[in-house]
Amino acid sequence: MAVRKPVVAIDGPSGAGKSTIAAFLAKRFGLLNLESGAMYRATALKALRLGLPLEDEAALAAMAEMTAIALEPTEGGNRVLLDGEDVTTQLREKDVTQAASRVSVHPRVRALMVAAQQRMGAEGGVVMEGRDIGTVVFPKAEVKIFLDASPDARGERRFIQTGPTQGQPSADDVKRELRERDERDRTRTESPLRPAEDAVLVDSTVLSLDEVKARAEAIVLEKWPG
Ligand code: DC
Repeated sequence: MAVRKPVVAIDGPSGAGKSTIAAFLAKRFGLLNLESGAMYRATALKALRLGLPLEDEAALAAMAEMTAIALEPTEGGNRVLLDGEDVTTQLREKDVTQAASRVSVHPRVRALMVAAQQRMGAEGGVVMEGRDIGTVVFPKAEVKIFLDASPDARGERRFIQTGPTQGQPSADDVKRELRERDERDRTRTESPLRPAEDAVLVDSTVLSLDEVKARAEAIVLEKWPG
């Protein structure tokens, strides 16, 4: 009988390096890499397109119930299909990013996303990154990592990552937006961002990328020797 592969949950604030580490672990251990945040982003994009008020939980939940969001892992991250349309690049836009944080406060929206995420990981063999993966989506995940870094370090990385684009926001703007989003993600009543009790904390503020990768790999090997 084939051995069940683990569920690896990676949670943490934005800009902590979750996506990079999730992609690395997925490749290293042959797991599917699923970005749960992309589902909140796709929901937000559709709401913006329809002009729905982002505080109207009932309208958003009704919309989400009739929406198909598919995550397709690729080498460079998830390809995201919203009702069959590839919206991957649009999901990174600034207004979608802010709107995603706002739609994700609603319990009824979260319940739909969580149920879909649980179905995707039901057979194991996934790395899922987000804010509530180790606490709510997969409380029994074999491996839980909480990846954090100081707000300044995260803001700096996000700023460099975005690269020089036309009308690029300043480093201070990027940091301010990140703080706003963090605040909302950490203080919302429903499933706020917090480490699961059994998560291993990794603070990447003063670590190089290679060091974080090595730690993450060691954590998986310790919890799931294969
Ligand atoms: O990880 P991300 O930046 O793509 O997430 C976008 C937003 O979605 C973020 O502000 C918080 C929310 N989110 C969430 O509430 N729960 C998750 N599991 C993933 C993301």
